[in-house]
Amino acid sequence: MAGGVSTKPPANPEGPGTGFFITFEGPEGSGKSVQSRALAAFLEARGYDVLWTREPGGTEMGRQVRQVLFEYGDVLDPWAEVFLFLADRAQHVNSLIRPALAQGKVVICDRYTDSTLAYQGYGRGLDVAQLRMLNHLATGGLVPHLTLLLDVDVETGLRRRAGTGGLNSFDARALAFHQRVREGYLRMAAEEPDRWVVISTAGSVDEVQARIQEVVLARLNGPR
Ligand code: TYD
Repeated sequence: MAGGVSTKPPANPEGPGTGFFITFEGPEGSGKSVQSRALAAFLEARGYDVLWTREPGGTEMGRQVRQVLFEYGDVLDPWAEVFLFLADRAQHVNSLIRPALAQGKVVICDRYTDSTLAYQGYGRGLDVAQLRMLNHLATGGLVPHLTLLLDVDVETGLRRRAGTGGLNSFDARALAFHQRVREGYLRMAAEEPDRWVVISTAGSVDEVQARIQEVVLARLNGPR
């Protein structure tokens, strides 16, 4: 697999030159963006070569897709919505994430394939097995080495989100939708415990960050 990257964690057939792929997932208001950026700064200060990125909108093309997603919001056909997220993802993985991993970087991505399973699958009710297959096509099978689920109860999360710039069109969906999203996340984490770590968001930003750093350093220093 010369020039490629590991697709199945924790195997790392490329050896020490290959990067490490971390994704952040969680319901609205879980603090993913703040925490994932803080982790990137922490690892950079420790000498790691880090790429922080996000979905949707990690590339120039993806930023336009992101605008379409937010502009059309709830009027989007559910499958149209899926294919927009997947178009963003395919471009993102192939033009940014894979090259960074091939250069040995630690890639930190705020939302990835599991967001599609949680929101469009468990949340909107589309077939999860079909979505998994589409994710596989869009990413060429690139699976994160580590996925951190920042867990927060739905009402606390939505309240937090409302306090920082208001509700977007996704937030405005019914509470029941967000409950399904959260339950979907918890289920996926339980089904694949080698990849997922559930992080409690109770306490201060610094306390949550300390939990995250502990988990990530153990994985970066330990067997992959
Ligand atoms: P964003 O403003 O980036 O919010 P957050 O800080 O919660 O990530 O909005 C991204 C929204 O897109 C969020 O509501 C989750 C949703 N989303 C999906 O529904 N499916 C996906 O595959 C992805 C990547 C995001």
